[in-house]
Amino acid sequence: MNTSLAFDAHKAGERVGLKSDEIVINGGNPLSGRIRVRGAKNLATKAMVAALLGETPSLLKDVPDISDVQVVRGLLEVYGVRVMSPSVGELRFDTSRVETAHFAEIDAHAGASRIPILFCGPLLHRLGEALIPDLGGCRIGDRPIDFHMDALRAFGAIVDKSHEGIRLTAPNGLKGAEITLPYPSVGATEQVLLTAVKADGVTELHNAAIEPEIMDLIAILQKMGAIISVEPNRTILIEGVDRLEGYTHRALFDRNEVASWAAAALATHGDIFVENARQDQLMTFLNVYRKVGGKFDVQEEGIRFWHPGGDLRPVTIETDVHPGFMTDWQQPLMVALTQAPGTSIVHETVYENRFGFTEALNEMGAKIVVHKNGLPDHPRRVARRDFEQAAIIEGPTPLHGADIRVPDLRGGFSHLIAALSAEGQSTISNVGIISRGYEHIIEKLATLGADFVFEG
Ligand code: EPZ
Repeated sequence: MNTSLAFDAHKAGERVGLKSDEIVINGGNPLSGRIRVRGAKNLATKAMVAALLGETPSLLKDVPDISDVQVVRGLLEVYGVRVMSPSVGELRFDTSRVETAHFAEIDAHAGASRIPILFCGPLLHRLGEALIPDLGGCRIGDRPIDFHMDALRAFGAIVDKSHEGIRLTAPNGLKGAEITLPYPSVGATEQVLLTAVKADGVTELHNAAIEPEIMDLIAILQKMGAIISVEPNRTILIEGVDRLEGYTHRALFDRNEVASWAAAALATHGDIFVENARQDQLMTFLNVYRKVGGKFDVQEEGIRFWHPGGDLRPVTIETDVHPGFMTDWQQPLMVALTQAPGTSIVHETVYENRFGFTEALNEMGAKIVVHKNGLPDHPRRVARRDFEQAAIIEGPTPLHGADIRVPDLRGGFSHLIAALSAEGQSTISNVGIISRGYEHIIEKLATLGADFVFEG
């Protein structure tokens, strides 16, 4: 943060008695200007783990400066990996001295992240053992790891649970297997990829996740020497190899961050150019954005998003796995839906508890009703899941400032948007969570003309 802003923020902070994880926002300013998004949180963190599989150093480019990356960096260093930053946005991994770590060390570094679960395959290949402490991550559902454990057992891993966590070993090595995921889980697909690439023989993975971040991880593993073919119908074939080298790779852009700023432009009647955004990974989002009434213009260097004036239109959204509407997009976009005249509906089919953030929006004047068992009688395109929920949004409802607390990453960004588009002042606490997945959020808000005070 530039010093003058910090000084103004500090003085203003003292005046309003601001705590360090709080931000005070005066709503009403349309967000306008140009920002750049770097690599995806949900790819960069996995690419860092993949470096463990390489016998030679790896270089990852366009790495976002977010706390989840710091967590994985800390974990890699606990395992003896030397991590250097040759230049801004680049990380170099020297894996020549990987060594075992203890639960306490791992736990101390894992903090609120779910990433330790993905270290299993690479550590079993390098050390014959992997230790997994209790996992964190956003409280948006139970988030079990049964698919991960079943897949690792299918490779021949032995799973021992203790009060400290989970200990995995592979006394007879890891062998290729046929695995069918009950649901196209992103994490479990990554688990299988990071394990199968060096397993003995062929692995056939069915009902796999095919998100762009998965495809980018496959590109990285292929650069390292892996043999991976993506077949029709969510089937991925992986032929294990004996040795993998390091990679050099530029991380795929963060489409979740792009969708978040696009939603902010709509809710604040703004106009934001997002550098590095690409259309091909955002097709479904752009369709819905247009249906709601948002305008966008795809250009060489990025995409411009703006509110054309006039009324927005209500829509029905069903979240789904790729290429469907991503679950991480519904929270930021919901603020704009509170301003659309009529009834919008969001069916959340990926996580069982991802509407907690709506309570604060209702405190700010929105009219959102959450149906904890979903809306069984509503016509649907996406297959029903036995635990889904739905939210019905009645608009337009003018929003007013309030004191709110961030519940999770995407819910937190949604609260920022609500405060920026509300009448009056809001104090948002627990904003530290947002820096887990949004790089330089304070600088970007300042660049886009937001009126706020943040001590930080
Ligand atoms: C990844 O989470 C992303 N996180 C999530 O983004 C994203 O929402 C999610 O994929 C879906 O796209 C990261 O990449 C770090 P899943 P992940 O395994 O891998 C159930 C964000 O805001 N399931 O695809 O944890 C699970 O409970 C985050 O950036 C099991 O039941 O998601 C959920 O209902 C939030 N058993 C569903 O599958 C398992 O063993 C999808 O989970 C694994 C998953």
